[in-house]
Parts: sequence; C-alpha cells; structure tokens
Amino acid sequence: MFEIAPSILSADFTRLADEIAKVKAGGAKMLHVDVMDGHFVPNITIGLPVVKSLRKATDMTIDTHLMISEPGRYAVQFVKAGADMVSVHLEADPHLQRTLVAIREAGAKAGIAINPGTSLDTLTEALPYADFVLLMSVNPGFGGQSFIPTMLDKLRRLKDMISSRGLAVKIEIDGGVDANNIAEIASAGAEMIVAGSAVFGGGEPTAAVKQLIEAGTDWA
Ligand code: DX5
Ligand code: ZN
Repeated sequence: MFEIAPSILSADFTRLADEIAKVKAGGAKMLHVDVMDGHFVPNITIGLPVVKSLRKATDMTIDTHLMISEPGRYAVQFVKAGADMVSVHLEADPHLQRTLVAIREAGAKAGIAINPGTSLDTLTEALPYADFVLLMSVNPGFGGQSFIPTMLDKLRRLKDMISSRGLAVKIEIDGGVDANNIAEIASAGAEMIVAGSAVFGGGEPTAAVKQLIEAGTDWA
C-alpha cells in the first residue's frame, strides 16, 4: 500500500484552501510542498509563510521538500512552521547527518532527497538517521516533467538496500507520476508517491486523486 502525496506546486495558489479540500476528498492524507530557492534548482517557489498558513488550515501530513542550498540552515525552521516531514537534498548538504538529527529532534520525520544522477552509494552512511528517502524521478525544479524510466530499477535497488540492512526507512518517489505508471512504481516498493500535474493539471483534483489511488492499487 502507498500514500498519495499531491504536490501543491501545480495547484492554484490563489485558491489553496479549496485545492487542499479537493485532494483530501479524493483520499489524500499528505500534502507535498516544494520549496525552491533559485540556487540549488533553477526555479523559485514558496517557503515558510506558506507552510505556516497550511498548518493552520489543515490536519493533513505536511511533507516539505527542500530544494535549497544549505538546507541545514532552514530545516528546523520548517518543522517549527508546522511541517510533519522535511526532506533535504544530500547534494546540497555536507553535514547531512547533523541536519537529519536536528529535524528528528525538532519533532518531524527526516528525509534524504536524492537526484536522478546521484548514486545510491552516497546514502550509505546517513541512511540510519533518515525516516524516509525521497527518490527523485525527474531532475528537481519543475512540475510536469516525464518520469525517467531507469528510476524504477533504482527504486528496486533502494528497496533492497534498506531491507538488507534491516532499516525501517520508507521510500517516497517524486516526479512524472501519472495514472499510467503509478502501478509499476507502487509495485516496485514506493510507499509514498508524489503527484503534481497528474492531480491538479486536469482541473478535477478529487477525481484525479481517486484515479491514481485506484490505478496504483491494481497491481496488488
Ligand atoms: C519537482 C518537484 C515535484 C513536482 C512533481 O522538482 O519536486 O514534487 O512538483 O510534479 P509532477 O508530478 O508534475 O512531476
Ligand atoms: Zn517534490
């Protein structure tokens, strides 16, 4: 089984409360919040004030994906703003283990985000300090990109790596997920699946979330 995590990056920001209510009605329990700084990735999105507002507006799990340089400077601030989960890119943080510990101590689940071109080997040392790995299946920066097919094999290898070490780390996958590929992704072991344009792009977020959950459950 998996949880669907709608990415509000593709939502209508002038009507966020409505958009959230719609995905919740479709069965989503998580909200994926993409924070971009225009430095680590070539795009600028939203930050702490939006997380604070979301926290007041919903009891859904707020999953904050930090695509920013020096995430160690900001990660705990996102927990204080109300995030339940915070992921930081290992490519952006030379002190990853320290950042993960700080996120946990602040009371949230700590995640390691990893780009498509980054080897799983780089996870080895920090993995025991993470609650989840956010496996990028597109290069971060924009919604609406295509799923990189080789990331399915990477997902399977990550699943093996975690189970062979007896760790309880969950896997979240992010980028290019739609109703056509979600079954294969779920069957490869993703426990949390992010979807942005597939949820908000067609104008029917409630139906889209239901469809993704159904399509992803088909493989079982
Ligand atoms: C990409 C973001 C994703 C994005 C997913 O940099 O991290 O969360 O919003 O959007 P889709 O589902 O459209 O690929
Ligand atoms: Zn994301």
